[in-house]
Amino acid sequence: MKTDLPQSFRRLEYRPPVYTFDQVDLDIALDPSRTIVKSRIEVLPGKSFEPGAPLVLVGQELEFVSLRINGQAHRHFELTPESLTIHSLPNEGKDKFIVEIISICVPNKNTSLMGLYVSNGNFFTQCEAEGFRKITYFLDRPDVMARYRVTLQAREEECPVLLSNGNLLKQEKLPNGWHSATWEDPFPKPSYLFALVAGKLACVEETITTSSGAKKLLQIWVEPHDLNKTRHAMDSLIASIHWDEKRFGLELDLERFMIVAVSDFNMGAMENKGLNIFNTKFVLAQAETATDADFANIESVVAHEYFHNWTGNRVTCQDWFQLSLKEGLTVFRDQEFSADQMGSESGRAVKRIEDVRLLRQLQFPEDAGPMAHPIRPDEYQEINNFYTVTVYEKGSEVVRMYQTLLGREGFRKGMDLYFQRHDGQAVTCDDFLAAMADANNKDLSQFQRWYSQAGTPRVKVEEVYDPANGQYHLTLTQSCASTPGQKDKEPFHIPLKTRLLTAKNDQPEQLLELTQPTQSWTFQNVTERPVLSINRNFSAPIQLEFEQSEADLLTQFSVDDDPFNRWEAGQRIAMQMILGDRLPDAQLINSYRSLLLDPNLDPAFKELALTLPAETYLYEQCSSVDPQKIFMSRRAFRKELAKQLQLEWAALYQQNQTPGPFKSDAQSSGKRSLKNLALSMLLEADPKIWAPMAVNQYQVADNMTDRYAALAALVIHGAKGAEECLRDFFSRFANDALVIDKWFALQSSRPPVDGKDSTLLEVKRLREHPAFKLNNPNRARSVIHAFCANNPASFHQPDGSGYAFWVESVLALDPINPQVAARLARALDRWRLFAQPYQGQMKAALEQVAACQTLSPDVREVVGKALAD
Ligand code: TRP
Ligand code: ZN
Repeated sequence: MKTDLPQSFRRLEYRPPVYTFDQVDLDIALDPSRTIVKSRIEVLPGKSFEPGAPLVLVGQELEFVSLRINGQAHRHFELTPESLTIHSLPNEGKDKFIVEIISICVPNKNTSLMGLYVSNGNFFTQCEAEGFRKITYFLDRPDVMARYRVTLQAREEECPVLLSNGNLLKQEKLPNGWHSATWEDPFPKPSYLFALVAGKLACVEETITTSSGAKKLLQIWVEPHDLNKTRHAMDSLIASIHWDEKRFGLELDLERFMIVAVSDFNMGAMENKGLNIFNTKFVLAQAETATDADFANIESVVAHEYFHNWTGNRVTCQDWFQLSLKEGLTVFRDQEFSADQMGSESGRAVKRIEDVRLLRQLQFPEDAGPMAHPIRPDEYQEINNFYTVTVYEKGSEVVRMYQTLLGREGFRKGMDLYFQRHDGQAVTCDDFLAAMADANNKDLSQFQRWYSQAGTPRVKVEEVYDPANGQYHLTLTQSCASTPGQKDKEPFHIPLKTRLLTAKNDQPEQLLELTQPTQSWTFQNVTERPVLSINRNFSAPIQLEFEQSEADLLTQFSVDDDPFNRWEAGQRIAMQMILGDRLPDAQLINSYRSLLLDPNLDPAFKELALTLPAETYLYEQCSSVDPQKIFMSRRAFRKELAKQLQLEWAALYQQNQTPGPFKSDAQSSGKRSLKNLALSMLLEADPKIWAPMAVNQYQVADNMTDRYAALAALVIHGAKGAEECLRDFFSRFANDALVIDKWFALQSSRPPVDGKDSTLLEVKRLREHPAFKLNNPNRARSVIHAFCANNPASFHQPDGSGYAFWVESVLALDPINPQVAARLARALDRWRLFAQPYQGQMKAALEQVAACQTLSPDVREVVGKALAD
C-alpha cells in the first residue's frame, strides 16, 4: 500500500526568494498543438541569496528545448517533471545574468484551464495561482515582480487579434501568413498577473477621462456574435472607475484597460494587469437572455476585477497564505460599490442582506466543517482549494469590521497609508492591519485574531431589565468551537452595533466592543422594558445565542429601524418554527401581512423578508440533520404562508408589474423580484388555479427575469405546462450557451414534487443530452453541482443514490479538471452533521473516492480532510 502523505505548504516556512527577476521578455509562437515559448530573463540575487546558490525554476507539463546563460549554451542543469535547476551560474550568481529558455506546451490538450489553453478555437491563459509554470520555467511566486515585454506570433487568419498586458508597442506582418504583436506592461508584476489572449474576437470600445484629466481606452473583447451583449459590462466598468476615484482616490494607471470574455473558465474572472479575463457568464447580458441577478453579478464582478488593479496588483501578496489581503479587501470594495449603486439607503440594506445571506449559507458551514481555515490559512496542500468563501466573504467581513471600528474616514486614512507604504510591493495581512492601526492610532493587536483563528464565534446574550432604577444590564459571553488543528481559541475583538428599541424611541445606537470572554454593560434611563437589537447591520460575522421570546422577535420584525435586524428577526421566527415542525401561526401571518402591505417598504426588502431560510442554513442549526424532514417541514411552512396570504399574493402580483419598456434599475428589479415571489407562492398554494397565469407570463415576457421565474415556478411546483415551456425554452435559446446552462440547472435543482422525486433520473438523462459537455465548467456545474450542491432534498436520498452519482461525477471530472472536481468534492464536507442512514452512506462515498489511486492533489486534499479525525 502507498503510504505517501500528501505534501503540505506552511505559512511559517515562508522564505524570501533566493533570486529575483528584473526584465522578462517572452516570445510566444502560438500553435494549438505545439506552442513555442522563448523567454529571456534578467536574474538578480534575491533577499535569501547566498553565493553559489542554484537557480530553481518551476515548470509543469513543459517540453524543455534549450537553455542559455549570458548568450552561451549552458549544460549545468537538472530537469524533473516539476522543475529546472540551474547550477554553475556566472560569478556564483552575484551579478545580474541573463537566462534564455526555450520550451514547448500543448494548449489544445490542456483541459485544466490553467496555463495556456484553447477555448472555441481561441487562446487564453489563466495564471493565478500557479498556472504560469505551465507556460514556461519560472520563479512562479507572487513576491517575484518583474517587468514584461511580450511578443505574440500566430497565423493571422486564425488569430487576427493578439493581446497581452499593458500597452501595444508594435504589430508586424511575418512570412507565411504569420503576424506578431508586441506588448509592454510598464508596471512590475508577479507572474500570476500575466495574460495573453489570441484569436477571432471583436471589441466594443469607449474613451473616458479620469479625474486627473487623462484619457483612457476601454475595450471589451468577445466573440463577434456577442457584441450586442456588452453594454452592461461597459457601463459597469465605467461606473467602477469613477467610484474608485471618488471613494478611495484611486485612478486607473494604464492608458488602456481590456476585458475579454471566454466560455471555458474555472472561476468568475481574473484581474490580469490591464487585461482582465472573464467567464462569459460575468460579461454578457441583455434583457432577453440575462436575469436581474445576472445583471447585478456582472456589475459586481466587473467592479471586483477592476478594483484589484490597486488592491492586488499595485500592492500584491507576499505569498498565497496572504490571499485574503487582496480578496477580502476587494470583495469588501465591490460590495460597497454595489451598495452605492443601489441609489438609496433601503437599497444598501437589501444588498447587505443578500451578502450576509450568502455568507451564512456557504461560509458558516465551511467554518464548521473539515476544511475550516482562518482567512489567512496556515497550511494547504493545493492552493486552488483555498479560493474559498472564507478567504473571500469572511475576509470581506473582517475588512468591514475595520471600517465599523474606525469609521469611514478612519478606514480611508488607513487605506491611504497602506498605499503610501506599500505601492509596488508584495506584502502581508499584518502590513494591512498595521496601516489601519497606525493611521488611526488604534491598538488592533487583538483584532489580529480574526486572521489567525478559524471558526465562527458565538456570542451569548443575557439581559436583565431593572425597572426600579431604569437600568438595563447586558452581559455578552463569547466562545468559538474547535476547528481542525485549532483546539482552543482566544477571545476575538468583536464590534457590535447595538440599540435598545423602546416605544419612546429614546435610546441611541452604540458600538459595543466585546474583547473579553465575558463583558457587561449597563444602560441608564431606560424607562420601559426594551427590545434588544444587537449586531445591527451584521456588524460582526458571528452566531448569536439569544433566547428572545417570539413576542419580542415579532416586535423587532415590525419596528426595528435597522433593516438588517428587522429582516433577521423574521428569519429567526421562521427558523424556530420550521425546526420545531410548526406552521406559521395567526400572529406571524398578520406580521407578514402588514409588512407586505406597508407602502413605505421597498418591494425588494419585502421579497427578502418573505423568503424562508435556505435548507443548508437550517442544517447548521441542528445537531443531527434529517434532510428529508427539514425539507418537508420547510415546504409545509411555505405552503401555509402561500395559502394564508393567497389574496395578498394575488394583489402583489398585479401591483408589482413593470409595464412599458424594460428597465434594469434597482426599483424595477425589486418589483420583479416581489412579483415573481408572489407568482411562485400562488403556484405553491394552488398550482391548478395559477399555472395558466405562469404559462402566460412565460409566453409574453420581454425579459429573462420574468420568463425564467415563470418557468421555474412551473417546474418547481410540477404544474401543468412545465414540460411544454421547458421544451420551448430550449429551442428558443438553443444558440445561447449561458441560457442553456439555466435550462440544465433548473432541471437539476428541481426539488421533489408532492413526495415524488425523479430528479436524479432526470439528471442522469441530462448528462447524456447532446448539449451536455463535461469539459466546459459552466455546463458541468449546471448539471452536476446544481444537483449535488443546490438540491439538498433530491441529493440526500436515504438509499445513497445521490452520493453514488457524486462519486461517479467526481471521478469523471478529476482527470479533466481537478479544480472543478475538487469544488464538487466539497459537497460532502458536512457529512458528520447528518443523521443515519445519510451519514454512513456519505462516509462510504468519500472512502470510495479516496480509494482512487490517481486522484489529483486537489481532490485528495478535500476528501482526505473530510475523512480525517
Ligand atoms: N483572482 C480571481 C478573483 O478573485 C480568482 C480566480 C480567477 C482564480 N480564476 C482563477 C483563482 C483560477 C484560482 C484559479 O477575481
Ligand atoms: Zn478577486
